[in-house]
Amino acid sequence: MEKQGLLYEGKAKRIYATDEAEVVWVEYKDSATAYNGEKKATISGKGRLNNEITSLLFDYLKSAGVESHFIEKLSSTEQLVKRVTIIPLEVVVRNIAAGSFSKRTGVDEGELLKQPIVEFYYKNDDLGDPLLTLDHVLELELATEETVNDLKERALYINTLLREYFLEREVKLVDFKLEFGMTAEGTIMLADEISPDTCRLWDSNTNEKLDKDVFRRDIGNLTEAYEQILARLGGSESCI
Ligand code: C5P
Repeated sequence: MEKQGLLYEGKAKRIYATDEAEVVWVEYKDSATAYNGEKKATISGKGRLNNEITSLLFDYLKSAGVESHFIEKLSSTEQLVKRVTIIPLEVVVRNIAAGSFSKRTGVDEGELLKQPIVEFYYKNDDLGDPLLTLDHVLELELATEETVNDLKERALYINTLLREYFLEREVKLVDFKLEFGMTAEGTIMLADEISPDTCRLWDSNTNEKLDKDVFRRDIGNLTEAYEQILARLGGSESCI
């Protein structure tokens, strides 16, 4: 497979074309951003950690029957994925109250929710990724009601799998964000990444935060937290 021109550069990844039309080359960057890009830093090793963790999680989900865009890990910071058009909805699943849910509802951070909650946000940096109702999604023609229900069902199934998988490794899956994409043939599949950048992960014994909140809230060392997650998932040690 040959790496070709840069197609897109986002906050955390660069996407390159390849000599195969339906395959793109993803490079994870060492940049950390929060609050819609207002807080920025370069954190050496972060790209490797997110690539390793995402690759492990997508491989696990595949073994449990969840199709995603992930094809293979190429190097410590690179992977090959299927080319998809991202549906502009960020699908958030919550098991425990935290973050914007606690802020919006007043439910204390750490409170176990009666059942998992699924939320849809408009993937739009200019608008600050606002929370959407189903009527909003339909009005903006971001997806049909059938697709929204399908995404919700998939997200809840992925939650069941990941929650158990993390708990076996002494990590609580508090909440996480998924993105889905559509192939040229119209197949919807899980896309983007699943990493400590996109999940809240707490040690199940101490509730220590092992995710991007460490960076957002300046409460520790991000690389150490992400290394913890990688180690618990059985990933390779840093070679630095
Ligand atoms: O901030 P909030 O509580 O809504 O975040 C819920 C979950 O979604 C968190 O795990 C967060 O890391 C993730 N998220 C994300 N990208 C965003 C917004 C939230 O990965 N743009």
